[in-house]
Amino acid sequence: MDQRIISNIPEDYHVSEPIPVTEPERQDFFIRLCRNYIERNQAEGRRLSYAVVTFGCQMNAHDSDRMRGLLERIGYEEAPEKEADLVIFNTCTVRENANTKLYGHLGQLKPRKKENRNFMIGLCGCMMQQPEVVEKIKSSYSFVDFVFGTYNLHRLPELLYLRLQENRRIIEVLPEPKEHVEIKGAKRKYPFKSGVNIMYGCNNFCTYCIVPYVRGRERSRTPEDILSDVKALVEDGVTEVMLLGQNVNSYGTNFMEESQIIKNEPEYGFPELLDAVCQIPGLRRVRFMTPHPKDLSDRLIRVIQKNPKVCRHLHLPVQSGSTEVLRKMNRRYTKEQYLALVERIREALPDISLTTDIMIGFPGETEEDFQDTLDVVRRAKYDQAFTFIYSKRTGTPAAEMEQVPEEVVKDRFDRLLAVVSESAHKRCARFAGQTVTVLVEDRNEQDPDQLTGRLETNMVVHFRGDDSLIGQYVQVKLTEVHGFYYSGELADS
Ligand code: 5AD
Ligand code: SF4
Repeated sequence: MDQRIISNIPEDYHVSEPIPVTEPERQDFFIRLCRNYIERNQAEGRRLSYAVVTFGCQMNAHDSDRMRGLLERIGYEEAPEKEADLVIFNTCTVRENANTKLYGHLGQLKPRKKENRNFMIGLCGCMMQQPEVVEKIKSSYSFVDFVFGTYNLHRLPELLYLRLQENRRIIEVLPEPKEHVEIKGAKRKYPFKSGVNIMYGCNNFCTYCIVPYVRGRERSRTPEDILSDVKALVEDGVTEVMLLGQNVNSYGTNFMEESQIIKNEPEYGFPELLDAVCQIPGLRRVRFMTPHPKDLSDRLIRVIQKNPKVCRHLHLPVQSGSTEVLRKMNRRYTKEQYLALVERIREALPDISLTTDIMIGFPGETEEDFQDTLDVVRRAKYDQAFTFIYSKRTGTPAAEMEQVPEEVVKDRFDRLLAVVSESAHKRCARFAGQTVTVLVEDRNEQDPDQLTGRLETNMVVHFRGDDSLIGQYVQVKLTEVHGFYYSGELADS
């Protein structure tokens, strides 16, 4: 895939002081410049506001929190998307409908440029790493103010400053750099839980997937950095962390920096890291996303077994139940190996909740292949399955293979959904009537009388209670099962 640099950054920045060359000092410098600019240009005496709109996965959500942290330091205040003076879209391109959604949003925003002279639109994230997307933005969405990619998120203050100074569109999309710059001071959506990146990128090259092309090669952060981040989060009130990576099982295969821990341990991988995270006092729940079935080790299962802090939930994407399709997908496991892994997990961790991702309509998928997928769904007994229709991604090997007709895919998708819902419903019903520990997250958006909390299994429960419980662990009796969520009531404690 084309990795050429797309950039129109000017040579001359019109600043009187020397600009630091190292990070994060350089961006700290631009944060100060932006702040001065914003203070001088307050909109009718009120502070300018921002919204970061996230598409896609947990990684993107976490990147958005980092950008929100930077924008707050600049002096913007957060507002709903409809009211904000600056809207940044953190995009996803894993399926074509993510792209379509962004273009739809952009079309709606154009009139706001006329209504508000301060109004600005920024685009970043995975979709922007594709040169054809940037070309389309340039030609059809010329009202977009600035564009950047997945490798230069930390440069938001500098790019924003240039946009404010130059009064023209700023575009900077880079190829994969040697070093990753961390952004400190993320603004979390919830004060009590947070994602923590343990690695970036992916080396698996599943033949349908665009991620390795837009997020680059796998790079693991050192255990020192990760553990010190988690400790700092705990000191800041976090009790639940989600360790994030495209394939957490290959953590440690290549480290980005020197690490004392790695040097002293012949084999330091994800199980060791997970174990070390669990030892941090004050942390109550540890989750991780996403393990690849091809290399989920017994060592990992043992670490989960001995650490009650690790939530009893595994998201184990199967993608397809057919060995032949899995081979074409380059998943590197067979149907039998996957089912054997599920069995090993269930034996060691009988109370675990399993969830998965399933794709329908991968090139060449036959009815027999599809029946294998249904068979795995029935046998693996998932608590929940995220189902997707295969989407052709330009530049991936599968895009060149023979595609399955749309009507056939739709029909299989509907049949899959029926089997998935039935089996998920049955599975979730096992907790009905039980009292479980729940981390209270928020008011229920649909029904403000109710709170929303999460079980260890990552399922959601709605129940009555007051705001003081938000961020607390409480006991909730699950009174009703509604497929993918529960209704409940606070148990006396
Ligand atoms: N089409 C459809 N679904 C996809 N996914 C990844 N790439 C594609 C694609 N081209 C799904 C996989 C993955 C999840 C995050 O998105 O199921 O596990
Ligand atoms: Fe994509 Fe496969 Fe990497 Fe997941 S493991 S990000 S599906 S290439």
